Amino acid sequence: MSSKRHILTAVAWPYANGPRHIGHVSGFGVPSDVFARFQRMSGNHVLMVSGTDEHGTPVQVLADQEGVTARELADRYNRIIVEDLVALGLSYDLFTRTTTGNHYSVAQELFTGLYENGYVFARTTKGAVSPTTGRTLPDRYIEGTCPICGYNGARGDQCDNCGNQLDPVDLIDPRSKIDGETPEFVDTEHFMLDLPAFAAALGDWLRAQAGQWRPNVLKFSLNLLDDLQPRAITRDLDWGVPIPLEGWSEQANKRLYVWFDAVIGYLSAAVEWAARTGDPDAWRRWWQAEDAESYYFMGKDNIVFHAEIWPAMLMGYNGDGDRGGDPGSLGRLNLPTEVVSSEFLTMEGRKFSSSRRVVIYVRDFLERYSADALRYYIIAAGPETQDTDFTWAEFVRRNNDELVATWGNLVNRSIAMAAKNIGAVPEAGELTDEDRRVLDASRAAFDTVGALLDRSKFKAALQEAMRTVAEANKYVSDQAPWALKKTDPERMATVLHVALQLIDDAKTLLTPFLPESANKVYAMLGGTGTWAGMPRIDEGVDVVGGAGEPTSYPVITGDYAGDAAVWASVPIRPGTPLSAPTPLFAKLDPSVVDEELARLEQAAG
Ligand code: MF3
Ligand code: ZN
Repeated sequence: MSSKRHILTAVAWPYANGPRHIGHVSGFGVPSDVFARFQRMSGNHVLMVSGTDEHGTPVQVLADQEGVTARELADRYNRIIVEDLVALGLSYDLFTRTTTGNHYSVAQELFTGLYENGYVFARTTKGAVSPTTGRTLPDRYIEGTCPICGYNGARGDQCDNCGNQLDPVDLIDPRSKIDGETPEFVDTEHFMLDLPAFAAALGDWLRAQAGQWRPNVLKFSLNLLDDLQPRAITRDLDWGVPIPLEGWSEQANKRLYVWFDAVIGYLSAAVEWAARTGDPDAWRRWWQAEDAESYYFMGKDNIVFHAEIWPAMLMGYNGDGDRGGDPGSLGRLNLPTEVVSSEFLTMEGRKFSSSRRVVIYVRDFLERYSADALRYYIIAAGPETQDTDFTWAEFVRRNNDELVATWGNLVNRSIAMAAKNIGAVPEAGELTDEDRRVLDASRAAFDTVGALLDRSKFKAALQEAMRTVAEANKYVSDQAPWALKKTDPERMATVLHVALQLIDDAKTLLTPFLPESANKVYAMLGGTGTWAGMPRIDEGVDVVGGAGEPTSYPVITGDYAGDAAVWASVPIRPGTPLSAPTPLFAKLDPSVVDEELARLEQAAG
């Protein structure tokens, strides 16, 4: 392999307005972790960052409903989300939040850079106000008919039917989602991001991604270029990052738009991570080196912000739009290498909906089933390149047939047999052609599976890895070491040696997907130290201070650099003591399906 790469794994920031469900983590969570773990195992320098997205109207409106402050609500869900993502084994280098002093200052710096280069300008627009309360109505709380496709349930910020970005004033027959009243539109001054000034640069950049990005994502992104309008990046709202300009920062009711500040989180989290390591410039290696790479993971409703708005913001900050300009004080910043978006997951044929309770939250899921079982399902049957449906029947089937009966069973019967008959990893005698063939195939899988993982083809990669498991199973069945015990104990030892080598290889191939059970297999085969590191929660103190009122908050981090896991076949060591294994995965009773469906029906009413 060539020299080590620097790879930013940028994971979409979950809203701190509720616990996350398995639809969410199938989009941004599990795929990004599989990618980051694989890249670390390959010896690359990974920086994996994210945090909770805490500003904006979703948090404010829910806080109002619950009679708490937006900050209190964000604090609550930040902690819950942090715990859930850790329980899933997601190996962030830093998972922080958008309400830190550090984030405020980085977000304001980006705004300032764009403003100074002339890509941000003030304009008077029409803002929606409730005629009865006089309060500003947030975009996404206005519904109406989409002026582009005619869909009747379009929101003021976006039409979910055609995917276009909208302004509330464009909606036909607008109505407030809060109480159904027709909003009034009044003059209000806002800053706009001059997207048309990036039309050429965005087009060149996107067209250069052909053959690299997932076709759906690229096609969607290129389509967005057909209608580039200046977009408001501030809001009439008091919950958000203040606008860093005289005459504006004092206004309690003008803030940066939540999406504008959230995407900057990828950068501010890297800056925070660097400050925490004691080398405040360390982030630059992932953001400014010409050979650094960055991969952004999300669900498809986020594509517009990552393939159009965020790149435009970066171009503007660098001075690379039609109006030119100079890089801001942080220096030039890299554009995304790839926007890796997945499609949507539905739940038993219906759209996930917390309000309609068509949902299973990560926490509830993990109370009953293992993280690896969920991770496996998401990669094997999740929405990587097309919408897919989560069904309990398929979950139980995959868990029982693939994890328990195929992989778990291979591990258990082989290690049990070796432990019982030899008590240690056996020495291999002379290898047969068949022994050599399976060992070679297993070694070759590192290239095949690795190439797929490097291109974010997770489903195909898992299929290939599971194919080696199936081959190993077939090898053990064909060679029937149990029948050799009396007749040819030496050959039995050789077969078991080969089987254990195949298992050791397979656990490495499966580590990005199933880190927890890979760690178990590693230990069963006598491995010491940490194989694949797990994330932990630290209490972090704001590295800048200022905006963040609670200066201490939970952050996800981990020491993955010391992991023993490497992406290669490593020869097992004969003589390593073995003991009787415990089952890797729990078999699920088929009655689970009916129980879960009943639970869903009951909740959804
Ligand atoms: N909070 C958004 C969502 O859940 C994602 C924000 S991603 C970021 O859809 F780029 F803005 F950070
Ligand atoms: Zn539409």
